[in-house]
Amino acid sequence: MPFNHTHIDASLRHIRAQTDSTPDIALVLGSGLSDYADTLHASASVATHAIPYYPRPTVPGHRGNLVFARLGAHRLLLFQGRVHFYESNDYSQVLYPVAIAHHLGARILIATNAAGGINPLFSSGDLMLIEEQIDLTLHGVTSGETRGRREPIFDCFLKSVAAETARNDGIPMKRGVYVAVKGPTYETAAEVEMIRRCGGDAVGMSTVKETELAADYGMQVLGISCITNKATGLGSSKLNHTDVTEAGRRVRDSLSQLLTHIIEALPPS
Ligand code: HPA
Repeated sequence: MPFNHTHIDASLRHIRAQTDSTPDIALVLGSGLSDYADTLHASASVATHAIPYYPRPTVPGHRGNLVFARLGAHRLLLFQGRVHFYESNDYSQVLYPVAIAHHLGARILIATNAAGGINPLFSSGDLMLIEEQIDLTLHGVTSGETRGRREPIFDCFLKSVAAETARNDGIPMKRGVYVAVKGPTYETAAEVEMIRRCGGDAVGMSTVKETELAADYGMQVLGISCITNKATGLGSSKLNHTDVTEAGRRVRDSLSQLLTHIIEALPPS
């Protein structure tokens, strides 16, 4: 999926006119999780609607800002919200932020998302460290960056820092496999059962292509899911987007604390 580099260059020019920050860590903040950026002291905030060619999010709960902030020894670039494939039908839009992060110099991607819990031990409000992912979007996307052999997407060192930080902070964190479907409708109970049998612990509609591209760029990748609900057929109530966003908000304090402490624990780049 080759990007239009004239577009990327125009976006980068607009961003660089507003900040000379050279981020080393990029974070994608998923449904209901954008407020993490507000807990940091931002050095710049760039409205995505003003960035030439930048994709426009349409889902409630996904704010459109690029926030630049310092945390400890690190320079962060936070994406408040993301564009899902089901909004745009275009992976070059879904992946645009990762390309921007890469071209601004980020070497680490931390991807967060809201997901439905499939593992029976998971409850609404749990955090899950993504061990690995299964891409059930059934869309092959070639980034043009792929190196042929698929290395593990999620970085072992980052996973161990995240797990140790959660332990030290007393924040319970599950571990598991994230499965992506295309959406936009939630899964049927039969699909959830299929995903469980395939080895999935959580299901969502994002992340897998972003993390794949970041790994192809040679970035170190960490993924954390917020389990906002039990997947269809496993909980007592019918799913809707507002409940998912609300549940994301409820776990945001522990996620915020965890993200801050993980980043502070990472060695300077
Ligand atoms: N399914 C898919 N995506 C989701 C879910 C779910 O149950 N919860 C939050 N995002």
